[in-house]
Amino acid sequence: MPEHSGKQGSTALVTGASYGIGADIARALAARGHDLVLVARSAEPLARLAATLEADHGITARPLPADLTAATGLERVAEAARDADILVNNAGAGLGLSFERTAWAQERHMLDLNVVAPSRLLHAALPGMLRRGRGRVLNVSSVAAAGPVWQGTSYGASKAYAVALTESLAYSRRIRTSPVALTALVLGHTTSEFHARAGIPPSPPSLTLPSRYVADLAVRAIHRRRPPVVCVPSVRYKLVAGLLRHLPHRLLALPHLADDFTVTSYGADRPGDRNRPDDGDQVSAGGDGEDGVLSAEAHGQGEGQW
Ligand SMILES: NC(=O)c1ccc[n+]([C@@H]2O[C@H](COP(=O)([O-])OP(=O)(O)OC[C@H]3O[C@@H](n4cnc5c(N)ncnc54)[C@H](OP(=O)(O)O)[C@@H]3O)[C@@H](O)[C@H]2O)c1
Repeated sequence: MPEHSGKQGSTALVTGASYGIGADIARALAARGHDLVLVARSAEPLARLAATLEADHGITARPLPADLTAATGLERVAEAARDADILVNNAGAGLGLSFERTAWAQERHMLDLNVVAPSRLLHAALPGMLRRGRGRVLNVSSVAAAGPVWQGTSYGASKAYAVALTESLAYSRRIRTSPVALTALVLGHTTSEFHARAGIPPSPPSLTLPSRYVADLAVRAIHRRRPPVVCVPSVRYKLVAGLLRHLPHRLLALPHLADDFTVTSYGADRPGDRNRPDDGDQVSAGGDGEDGVLSAEAHGQGEGQW
């Protein structure tokens, strides 16, 4: 596989690129020669990453600091998304409190970030991709989308939306007959800075995938001529995915098969939490406590034009 198989002059917009999985996706895209627009709230890590990637790969990287849960921030990013050839909807947050114990502001914040923002950016980006006759979309989802594996919270439902929207568009005639492709990236435990920043216990090492590995695999997947509609990194998670898909969900109510946030709470006030809404409600981002995976990865057809 060539080091630079990105199309000259193509631009990728990556949300949640300041750290974690999004930063590694940005690195992998830069290595393929794509120019970048990097989005997150933290301006400084974005600027640092942009400078490093420009120096290392000779690409142009533009930091675009914005809060995707704020209308003005989201619209600024949507404006940039209109010209994107690759859109990576990666920024996401989870709620470590059961549904009945959260404040509405917390739920609203998570839905704004996990559901509204990716939809808005996709809505902004897709017409241009179709007009220009090229485009790739990567919507980052979670194994929590598979069912009630992170019980008592609304996080899984928000991530199921990412898969449902991806599939709905990807299988439509309009997209199928175009050179544009959408992929849902369904992740299990993955290393990111979330756990340390939010004070959440780390995932079991045996079940945790390195974020660099996940990012490289996802970026490779969207560069195929026919990218998978659903991409699940690692054989282990693919196997679990198959099981989960066919298991009756009521089995997940058996003890120890799933985390139940109706009794446990990671949500005791965490001073360092970067993902709480402005009103002080606390929200945790990204890291999942789920086990299992949604569905098996489709088979690609080798490197495409990307
Ligand atoms: N890590 C896992 O085990 C795991 C498993 C399944 C799925 N996922 C999904 O993977 C994606 C990336 O998560 P991660 O593990 O890399 O988490 P992370 O390390 O916490 O990174 C989250 C990223 O999103 C950005 N972000 C958070 N709120 C934002 C907002 N309001 N506006 C703009 N950007 C915002 C953060 O930057 P700022 O704080 O600078 O804004 C950061 O760049 C998420 O969609 C998550 O649901 C993760």
